[in-house]
This record gives sequence, structure tokens and C-alpha cells, in this order.
Amino acid sequence: MSKANAALSVTPFCLEAWSKLRLQAVEQALSDWVTDETPCGLDHGAPADLVAAMRYAVLDGGKRLRPLLVFAAFEAMNLPTASVGHAAAVRAACAVELIHAYSLVHDDLPCMDNDVLRRGKPTVHVQFGEASALLAGDALQALAFELLTPMDGSVPPEMQARLCALLSRAAGSAGMAGGQAIDLASVGQPLTERQLRTMHQLKTGALLQCSVLMGAHCADAPLRAVQALRDYGAAIGLAFQVVDDILDVTADSATLGKTAGKDACNDKPTYVSLLGLDASRHHAQELLAQATAALNDGGLAEAQALHALADMVVNRVN
Ligand code: IPE
Ligand code: IPE
Ligand code: MG
Ligand code: MG
Ligand code: MG
Repeated sequence: MSKANAALSVTPFCLEAWSKLRLQAVEQALSDWVTDETPCGLDHGAPADLVAAMRYAVLDGGKRLRPLLVFAAFEAMNLPTASVGHAAAVRAACAVELIHAYSLVHDDLPCMDNDVLRRGKPTVHVQFGEASALLAGDALQALAFELLTPMDGSVPPEMQARLCALLSRAAGSAGMAGGQAIDLASVGQPLTERQLRTMHQLKTGALLQCSVLMGAHCADAPLRAVQALRDYGAAIGLAFQVVDDILDVTADSATLGKTAGKDACNDKPTYVSLLGLDASRHHAQELLAQATAALNDGGLAEAQALHALADMVVNRVN
């Protein structure tokens, strides 16, 4: 190995530095795409109040974990960043963030978790009213699929279809929305660990796993890599909600940007209520080990960002 290569191989990966450019690209794209631009063929654009609520829900906040996972999985295949796949990955990254933002707007509504603080700001229904929050969520969901289906030829039709299939399944009744239904039906109920795991896998895990799979599909990843990323996504997807349950108990509202202690207050079954804090923390570390093992078995060309994101999911403070 040459001296230069030896130096490269020991350079530690810096997630913050890796994330910076990608986060900038996502912020810019979201700001450009969540607008009142007139859809082609119509002589009127979207109502300004609705767009204001949508922009409030999406911009200026959030960790943007899901977009980062799309990019990390895409880049794990080492395709050139100027490829068709990369243009699709940018759209997929924004689309999954829009679905996530919509899920948060609805999750916070009085008929669901009844939260007043999100991403350090009043929740959308507090700021704009319940009907506007409901509609902003609806419109964000629709916009996500609009982003995945550009009519300018920039993303091949087959790739558009695959991305839509992945995202719709992860967001729907057998994914996020289904998990949210189980969550609401479980208030005050003692769930088994298996039931709780299913609820968390659906309400949170599905979209995180989908992020990774969309990135892989944009890079036309081979089967072995897709399988590894599916396992990785399942492990971090569940871990993310286990840690969310832990942070609800251990962190304060200022750090979280949302009201701490809400799960106990709303009588929600969580990993902490079922297993206790120590066992929940231990389980999160086990899931991190599973995610790491999946990556190590996957034969991925470039997995450092995926490793670092898994570590962030489990060891984060907000
Ligand atoms: C919060 O997700 C909701 C859950 C799925 C637990 P995040 O913690 O990713 O929220 P933001 O996007 O950073 O605000
Ligand atoms: C929500 O889970 C998951 C979603 C689908 C939005 P939580 O209800 O625990 O999320 P937070 O704690 O309000 O962010
Ligand atoms: Mg909830
Ligand atoms: Mg909630
Ligand atoms: Mg929570």
C-alpha cells in the first residue's frame, strides 16, 4: 500500500462533515419544492395559507435522518454523484422527509398525541389550526409522490414506479399509518414485547427501512446488498423508536424540541414501560450490533456513513 493510501485508510470518518453538504442540498431542494408553484396546465397555484403551513411543517428543523439514510445507502454502491440515480436519490430523500413531516403533523393533533411543541416550535395545528394541519399533512403526502414522478425525463419510469411502491407501502396501512393505528388502539393496554415490536416496526421502522431501500434502488444495488440493507434498515428502524421511548423519559423538552414525558402522560405502552430503562438501553445496543453485522455481511463498497448513522440513531441525545 502506498503512503497516501495508508493515510487514507486510517482517516476517521466524520459524520458531521459528511452530512453537511447533503443536508444543504436537502434543505435547498425542500425549500424549492414545497412552494405554491402552479401545476402545469392549471391557471392557479396552491392557496398561500396551505403552503405556509406545509413549509412551516417541513423547513427549519428536524435531524433529516431519513434523507441522510437515502444518501448513505445510495453512496454505499459507489455510483458517480452525477448519475440519473443521484437525481432520483435527491427526490427520494425529500419525498421520505415529506412523508415523515406529514406523519409528525398528524401525530401531534389533539385526536392523536395532542402535542403543542415540535422541532422547537409550536405544532402546526397550534400555529395554523386543526383543519389546516390536517390538510397540510394530506398535501405533503401527495407532494412526496409528485416528487418521485417528475415528467421531465430525469428519472426513468421504472425507477419512479419502484420508488413509489417502496414509499407507499412504508407509509400506508401496513407501515407507518398502520403502526399509528396500533399505537392509538394500545393506549392503556399492556402489550407483549412482540406486539410492541410490531407497533414500533410499523409506525417508525418502516419509513427508516424504506429510506435505505430507496437509496439502494436508486443505485441499482445488487440483491446481496439490498438484503443487507433491508436487515440494517430493520435493525435501526426499531432501534430508533426504542431510543425515542428512552429519550421521552430521560431528556428534557428543550433538548428534544418536543414535550418530554408525553408517553407516560398519554399512557402509551413503550419499551421503557415494558422493559425498564436499562433493558431498553441494552436492547438498543443489541440492535446496533445487528445493524453493524448486516453491513459487514453485505459486501458494500462504502459503508462508513451507514455505520456512523446507525451509531447516531442509537447513541443520540435528541
Ligand atoms: C420523531 O422522529 C418521530 C418518530 C418517528 C419517533 P425524528 O426524531 O426523526 O424527528 P425529527 O425529524 O428529527 O424532528
Ligand atoms: C410517532 O411516534 C411516530 C410517527 C409515525 C410520527 P411518537 O408519537 O413517539 O413520536 P414523537 O415522540 O411524538 O416524536
Ligand atoms: Mg405518537
Ligand atoms: Mg407523538
Ligand atoms: Mg415518542
